[in-house]
Amino acid sequence: MYTINRPPPLSAWEKVGLFFRLAFIAPLQAILNVSRCLCIAAIRGLPLRFYAQCGIARVIHGSFSARQIQYFSPSTSSRYKTWMATRLAHARTTNDKFLLKRLRYDVEGLPDGESSILWIGNRRRATKFVYFLHGGAYVVSLNGGHLEWCLRAYVQAAAAAKDGEDVAVAVLEYTLCPAGQYPVQLSQAAAGLAHLLRSGISPRNLVIGGDSAGGNLTAQLLGHILHPHPDVKAIGLDGPLAGAFAVSPWVSGHTDTRSFVENEYIDMLSPYIVRNSCNYLLEGVEQYAAERSKGHGWAMAVDVDGGWLEGLETVTREVYVTVGGQEVLRDQGITFAETIRTRNPRVSVRLEIMENEAHDWIMLEGMAHWDGDATKRMRAWVSDVFWNQ
Ligand SMILES: *[C@@H]1O[C@H](CO)[C@@H](O)[C@H](O)[C@H]1NC(C)=O
Ligand SMILES: *[C@@H]1O[C@H](CO)[C@@H](O)[C@H](O)[C@H]1NC(C)=O
Repeated sequence: MYTINRPPPLSAWEKVGLFFRLAFIAPLQAILNVSRCLCIAAIRGLPLRFYAQCGIARVIHGSFSARQIQYFSPSTSSRYKTWMATRLAHARTTNDKFLLKRLRYDVEGLPDGESSILWIGNRRRATKFVYFLHGGAYVVSLNGGHLEWCLRAYVQAAAAAKDGEDVAVAVLEYTLCPAGQYPVQLSQAAAGLAHLLRSGISPRNLVIGGDSAGGNLTAQLLGHILHPHPDVKAIGLDGPLAGAFAVSPWVSGHTDTRSFVENEYIDMLSPYIVRNSCNYLLEGVEQYAAERSKGHGWAMAVDVDGGWLEGLETVTREVYVTVGGQEVLRDQGITFAETIRTRNPRVSVRLEIMENEAHDWIMLEGMAHWDGDATKRMRAWVSDVFWNQ
């Protein structure tokens, strides 16, 4: 078992500093970052929608510490609660029968008492399931954009499927850094998956995946199923999973690829932000260095020899990786997808490099309550995997 080291609450002095930053420094940085993101997007001839959000996200991640961010943002479970209440109220006013039949507040605690499964969709009538690992650099909680994405791309995919087919999404609430570091989140993700399997869900009806740090956690979990981590309970699958996806996955500690140089000033993330998040996750974790020198890739699927991902075809036959042409993590996402493809001839890998998009576009579409291109592509992939094989 691992330990959770809850950091002390912000002192009065730290709150004053935070207030000062919020009131005077952050707005100026936001104006400058937003203008710069929009200018580069305009010069590159990209549609401007969402590039302002990239500028804002840069300031949140780059200008505040994990403790500060967590001080002013609600936890994953309270975000879920608020979103569910708002969504249900909206479904009632619009008399949306599809959603009224499926949406309800439904939380299952996991054995460690720290993590839980938050359900979207009706798990009792579902025939297909998605296990969702949210991003946020392991520092930021789930947001409404993730939940909206899950609803639109997965639960609503069932509307076009055969009668009787239904999808429910199990969202993992896991411990953020710095309270928990690697491999705390992997243990919780594995416990969540074990819980779903134990409750009778067959791997062939289950897709797993996530965005950004959630893609990192997905890669960790796939690695763990293939090569059980000594400190984490092993997972036995009685057949391959229906699929695995990773949206803008963060799968390497390196910040020196071409996409980091090209997109340093336009993306939601910067090399500084990525390095900082790496430190939150791995700094001072002694076992990490030892694992890495032995070639074990639980923490870092892409930074060890490609053989680490060999055999993935026993875990799943369908992999979907999507990255933005305008994001710093572009190249590592491509390497991840291509390594899986080269090492596993029987796995079908759908890799999309979307020139108009920066980091985690589908989440931004979710935040805007919009069925955009990224949402539609995800819905198309999941429908193929569930119903068109
Ligand atoms: C953008 O925001 C970051 C904080 O994330 C800050 O360090 C940087 O100076 C800002 N850029 C500009 C041009 O102000
Ligand atoms: C997760 O992120 C860490 C920190 O950047 C990185 O070293 C590692 O490559 C990532 N893990 C996986 C499985 O990709």
